[in-house]
Amino acid sequence: MTKYGTFPGARPRRLRTTPAMRRMVAEHRLHPADLILPAFVREGISEPVPISAMPGVVQHTRDTLRKAAVEALEAGVSGIMLFGVPEEAKKDAAGTAGTDSDGILQVALRDVRAEVGDDLVVMSDLCLDEFTDHGHCGVLDARGRVDNDATLERYAEMAQVQADAGAHVVAPSGMMDGQVGVIRDALDQTGHEDVSVLAYTAKYSSAFYGPFREAVGSSLQGDRKTYQQDPANLRESMRELALDLEEGADMVMVKPALPYLDVLAKVADAVDVPVAAYQISGELAMIEAAAEKGWIDRDKAILETLTGIKRAGADLILTYWATEVARGL
Ligand code: PBG
Repeated sequence: MTKYGTFPGARPRRLRTTPAMRRMVAEHRLHPADLILPAFVREGISEPVPISAMPGVVQHTRDTLRKAAVEALEAGVSGIMLFGVPEEAKKDAAGTAGTDSDGILQVALRDVRAEVGDDLVVMSDLCLDEFTDHGHCGVLDARGRVDNDATLERYAEMAQVQADAGAHVVAPSGMMDGQVGVIRDALDQTGHEDVSVLAYTAKYSSAFYGPFREAVGSSLQGDRKTYQQDPANLRESMRELALDLEEGADMVMVKPALPYLDVLAKVADAVDVPVAAYQISGELAMIEAAAEKGWIDRDKAILETLTGIKRAGADLILTYWATEVARGL
């Protein structure tokens, strides 16, 4: 009470007085089950290889990947998303290593499934960029452009081999038109009706993928602007969303997360399927780098971004910090 009298109405600060009070009235809570761990597995290495632009993240050997999967499971994380990094010599124009049943991603899927069974949801990135010598997410036509429909044929094959290898969920990230429908058909026609599709619905052409390109040893020259979305566009994501749902997406994703929380909120409002957001490599790099310089509190910044992503509407969050964060919750 001030000497000027009582202000009418509520005083929101009353509900912020103690940690217990703040905890009680928190509107959003992170739970380990919200989290999915993206993980890289590299062919032909005997020790994990650190990724310099992603402090704390490594390219796993087959062995350390299995361990990382078990650790994630024990921490309560829901799923793991696998990315394969083939030997350089195995890359070619069509990305054949991506559809070889003994390719690194397929081998890793079998390894991880053997380790965790059905206890952890095992997901695989369904895209050609790690396997092509030109680094694009699809195959090229005679003029060097990414050929949408020829790429779909490759994706159909990829979906089948990944499902054969044990993926519970395949996650097409190449942004080809019609990819979800073609993949759904391919799965259904090969006895994989139970395998889900997590569609990268709104995937923007982002500067924040930079560190990932090191992580997968990308061969890309140029950019992905003819297939990934322009950061200026929001309405376009709603069009992508409608198409993905029509084509049979079981879950949808927005990526990156932090610069696109408006897109995430709009997508989450519009759908009745689970919505995922991917906190990508550059989002991790920003926080780790600033923390290393002593400019921000790393742990608080991580939790704040994840909480923000959840508040914006994500049911699921892919984050390289998944295991660490889950342990601390
Ligand atoms: C493409 C793919 C990318 C990421 C996930 N899948 C990179 C790209 O589009 O260039 C980025 C993930 C990250 O930056 O953490 N297969």
